[in-house]
Amino acid sequence: MRVRLLDLSEQYRILAEPIREAIDGVLASHRFILGTRVEAFEKAICGYCNAPHAIGVSSGTDALLAILMAFGIGRGDAVITTPYTFFATAGCIARTGAKPLFVDIDSETYNISPSAIQEYIEKNCQADPSGELKTRSGERVRAIVPVHLFGLCCEMDPIHQISEHYQLDVIEDAAQAIGAEYPFGERTARAGTMGEAGFFSFYPSKNLGAAGDAGMIVCRDAELAKKLRIFRDHGMDPRYFHSVIGGNFRLDEIQAAILAVKLPHLKSWSAARRGVADFYRAEFARAGLVEKVVLPAEPYRDRGLTNHHIYHQYVVRAPRRDALREHLAKREIETAIYYPLGLHEQKSFAYLGYRRGHFPETESAARETLALPIYPEISREAQRYVVNSIAEFFG
Ligand SMILES: Cc1ncc(COP(=O)(O)O)c(C=O)c1O
Repeated sequence: MRVRLLDLSEQYRILAEPIREAIDGVLASHRFILGTRVEAFEKAICGYCNAPHAIGVSSGTDALLAILMAFGIGRGDAVITTPYTFFATAGCIARTGAKPLFVDIDSETYNISPSAIQEYIEKNCQADPSGELKTRSGERVRAIVPVHLFGLCCEMDPIHQISEHYQLDVIEDAAQAIGAEYPFGERTARAGTMGEAGFFSFYPSKNLGAAGDAGMIVCRDAELAKKLRIFRDHGMDPRYFHSVIGGNFRLDEIQAAILAVKLPHLKSWSAARRGVADFYRAEFARAGLVEKVVLPAEPYRDRGLTNHHIYHQYVVRAPRRDALREHLAKREIETAIYYPLGLHEQKSFAYLGYRRGHFPETESAARETLALPIYPEISREAQRYVVNSIAEFFG
């Protein structure tokens, strides 16, 4: 049996007709960029995420870049984030001229560890007389970018406390976590809405995927939303008058129209992914593998939330990971490694001066984790085959 890591064919089979109609509508309208479909999709995302403002952009990467630019973060500044994430998170920080400051992850959730942030600040930073937080080398620490990895929210309460105390902005990288919930203080909050700004990626393999690149920023403040719309379009306001330097971060009408067809299904797709995760858990227990294979943590499961995890990826931790992966490949089971190398060890970030050993939790996750096939329509038979093949490997 062949098991794909992600298979979009069933989703497309069901939605092919309305998607084609949506595309035809855009073609007939001759309006291809930032039109009524983008506006309607932005409103729909506000509703889905319970966010006052949403700004459609060209990708998750451009979303983060636009936010950092709108906050005026650049040369002389520093931004705290995780080294265990997709490159774009720290890549955007570096592209503004600011310095990424890496802080290690929690070993169970793989998300940035709030206590490690606190410890990092206490050991390496100091508030100057004006109250600005500075690194030892003099950069001004401006923001924290927590990444809700694999569809699970970071522990936002302690992160919020730290950001309040040191007056840092929080920019949520929710690229992988649209709709994921967190028990934020007294309320249930959706990913992207707990900081000053947040963003999503609609890269085709995401839970809500476009037919190309697309992204969305959400924020609470109306002035910031206005600013982000200006930055999204070359800093232009009004037409051909540029008060700031922005970029071309605009969202296409075709992508917005396709995403608007898919969005009403997202709730049930996320629920189906949780069902897949529950079945994996039961199967791993049946196969007697729970001592060998560490399953994804679900820290908010019994906290009265629906979307306590949206399982963008189903990532396990296993000994002899690479050999296991090869074994599964021989059984025609696709897997993936997110991510094989911490960002602190990437060649492009060598100038930051980090070395192997700096972030032990990130490094062991990079060595030991493996993403197993997950998508809403995966069959129970395929899942059982995956688990049986893992059991076979461990003898
Ligand atoms: C954690 C994270 N941040 C940022 C991005 C960038 O999003 P995009 O691919 O839409 O530019 C991604 C996309 O894969 C991501 O997974």
